[in-house]
Amino acid sequence: MDIQPAMTIGVLTSGGDAPGMNACIRAVVRTGMANNVRVLGVYNGYEGLIDGEYRPLGARDVGGILQRGGTILQTRRSKCFIEKTGQRDAIRKMNEAGMDALIVIGGDGSLHGAQALHEQGVRVIGIPASIDNDIWGTNIAIGVDTAMNTIMEAVDKLRDTASSHSRAFLVETMGRNSGYLAIMSGIVCGAEMVLVPEVQTTADEIAETVENAYKRGKNHSIIIVAEGSGHRATELAKELEDKDVGFRTRVTVLGHIQRGGSPTAYDRLVASRMGFKAVEGLLQGQSGMMTALKGRGVDFVPIADVIANERKVNMEYFEMAKVLAR
Ligand code: F6P
Repeated sequence: MDIQPAMTIGVLTSGGDAPGMNACIRAVVRTGMANNVRVLGVYNGYEGLIDGEYRPLGARDVGGILQRGGTILQTRRSKCFIEKTGQRDAIRKMNEAGMDALIVIGGDGSLHGAQALHEQGVRVIGIPASIDNDIWGTNIAIGVDTAMNTIMEAVDKLRDTASSHSRAFLVETMGRNSGYLAIMSGIVCGAEMVLVPEVQTTADEIAETVENAYKRGKNHSIIIVAEGSGHRATELAKELEDKDVGFRTRVTVLGHIQRGGSPTAYDRLVASRMGFKAVEGLLQGQSGMMTALKGRGVDFVPIADVIANERKVNMEYFEMAKVLAR
């Protein structure tokens, strides 16, 4: 005799991929199985929800993915889901599939979509995943630690060549509108300077800082340039050459390398804990909530609060990065 599942839930990944998403999908599927919950993997984010692209996921479907970057479910930045009609079609498809609830793994835009579904009566739990760490309400999102480690490894290598040639390297990092990745990697890489969207810095000020580092006897200079800082690393390098700051300059734009790679132990752990918690929450009747790392525990915060607030970087770390750069 077939045992009827207690519940059927969909799981999707949306927005920019983040290392650890697969570990999270695996945790959702296996926690579901342990609780007699059927899990449907929805492909291509919200677009796949609208188009009915889903299939049941069992224990073996998520075997061997814990250590893989990217997402086995694929992801999209869905424009059609912003519209009411897209959301309506998605709900219709969910009903057809017998989906009782949905778990959305993604960043800020994805959480807006989750909240829209929740407000229309869909049971939904969000899980924060974005290398930018720009999601309010959680200490950290899935993918941040791996991205930071990727930046750190790259800058460590760049410093070797920078100091051999007495050069200044401008290293451009991701982070959209947030300076989090740039500031934290500035600290862990010992950068001479960090340029972030939160602080306006002129080319003259940058030139002065780099020249002072040269005068103090440094044999290299690492300047982390956040993509939203208002400076492009390539243009800045030319300006520094023109201003003759002592060092010759070179540029490295890290780009999407920061989004790939095998997740760190920390990201695997956070992702697994959040996936587990999300299923637990749905079984307990939660909806409209996001899993959040607070202190040492994983808790829930209302998605409405998450999207109504902006996560600000603690600028004490920016000041600290400057002190440590002497
Ligand atoms: O949100 C993650 C992120 O990697 C940002 O840091 C970056 O600005 C953006 O996505 C890049 O998006 P795309 O992959 O669509 O080019």
